[in-house]
Amino acid sequence: MTPSSSRASAHEALNRIFKNSLSLDEFERRHPELIEHLSESDHGLYREIVLGVCRFLPRIDFFLDRELSKGSISKIEVRNALRMGAYEIFHLRTPTHAAVSESVKLIKNSKFHHLSAFTNAILRKLANRSEEYSKKIWNPYESAEISAAFCLPPWLIDRLIEVFGFQRAFLIAESFLEKPKAVLCSLEGEGSGGVLSERSIFVDRVNSEVLDAVSSGRVIIQSESSQLACAVLGAQPSERVWDTCAAPGGKTILIAEMLQGRGSLISTDRSEKRLLEVQRRGEKAQFFSTVVRCQVLDLEKILDSEEAFSANDPFDRILVDAPCSALGTLAAHPEGKWIKERESLQDFTQRQFLILKSASRSLRAGGILVYSVCSMDPSEGTQVVERFLASPEGRGFARLDLSREFAGKLSSSVFNTRGEIELIPGVNSSDGFFISKLRKR
Ligand SMILES: C[S@@+](CC[C@H](N)C(=O)[O-])C[C@H]1O[C@@H](n2cnc3c(N)ncnc32)[C@H](O)[C@@H]1O
Repeated sequence: MTPSSSRASAHEALNRIFKNSLSLDEFERRHPELIEHLSESDHGLYREIVLGVCRFLPRIDFFLDRELSKGSISKIEVRNALRMGAYEIFHLRTPTHAAVSESVKLIKNSKFHHLSAFTNAILRKLANRSEEYSKKIWNPYESAEISAAFCLPPWLIDRLIEVFGFQRAFLIAESFLEKPKAVLCSLEGEGSGGVLSERSIFVDRVNSEVLDAVSSGRVIIQSESSQLACAVLGAQPSERVWDTCAAPGGKTILIAEMLQGRGSLISTDRSEKRLLEVQRRGEKAQFFSTVVRCQVLDLEKILDSEEAFSANDPFDRILVDAPCSALGTLAAHPEGKWIKERESLQDFTQRQFLILKSASRSLRAGGILVYSVCSMDPSEGTQVVERFLASPEGRGFARLDLSREFAGKLSSSVFNTRGEIELIPGVNSSDGFFISKLRKR
């Protein structure tokens, strides 16, 4: 009576996500042995279950908690097995007996084996509620249902309402419930075209054919908004470019392609391990080894030194794709809803300001500085740029109006009143992203 390998891996992933606050990517990096053996279809099911449970967690827990007497399951391992069964019953077409028996097997094989009959009974009760679940209209104005209606933690609901107002906040939350298509970026010129980038190619899922194209260096997996950040940077052949926060390297690879083998691109990151990933991914791409040099560098630390990085040979263009809360990517990474905290927003804001200031010192007069984050929270986007422009380092910079530069190419709805790109999920058909372009006078 062993559970299917996809469910066993999914159960382990959910346990680590909720116990250790690991993202799914981080779980896979740390525990390759738990997923490497999965066939392509098992791997698909494993991810479907983990991401689906995280996406709809408060709705599943709402129904689950009605069947449980208070405090009857304090162990996260048991709750996760129940959540998995419930997700399969409510959202997938798994036959009830199979969904129930897989969760029961997970519990039978764990140290909580004495709870297997209990697991069976609860899931059978939930199966009788399946129609009620699918017909339920969640009321965001009802306090007992607000978390399930938004499918977000309370702090994030509050923050979205504070920034965007109730209706937009709800649209954003709803967009996080949709499974996004995977986006590829063609490294051979135009793709099949998207809304934000002509290089993009949409695929339903990353299958072996896609992975072959990635291995051969023809495409990379990259969101449209990330591709757009590179287009805004606009690196030209023969220029000297710095990608300051480069790992895991998607933008470095695309910028190298834009340089067409001429000029130079210094790719830095404070994490040596992550920079090795840039190197590993980049080697497959045609122009990478000709123009890119990777170097470990912490931009916050070098801010203390009197001399700027590469002071004798300043850059034509610099990209600061800063570390951020990644709130804009919650559709693709729904586990982030449950591992992020409000306090981290404030930490990021300060670090983003320092990194931007640090990078700005290495630009030549007339050069271009692009600041981007995969978040729609203004405290990480336009407010960081405002603070920088008001600082002694930022006074020599002018913000460029991207609504003019991209007029006719992008919908006017993607620009804020300062001419920056502010992509809001559920409002723009995109993940959440911010891009600002500055020129040094
Ligand atoms: C959003 S990710 C960059 C993604 C990357 N540009 C890409 O397209 O693949 C932010 C990166 O900033 C790096 N980072 C964080 N703090 C840093 C610092 N003080 N100096 C340099 N890099 C930093 C992190 O290690 C992380 O790899």
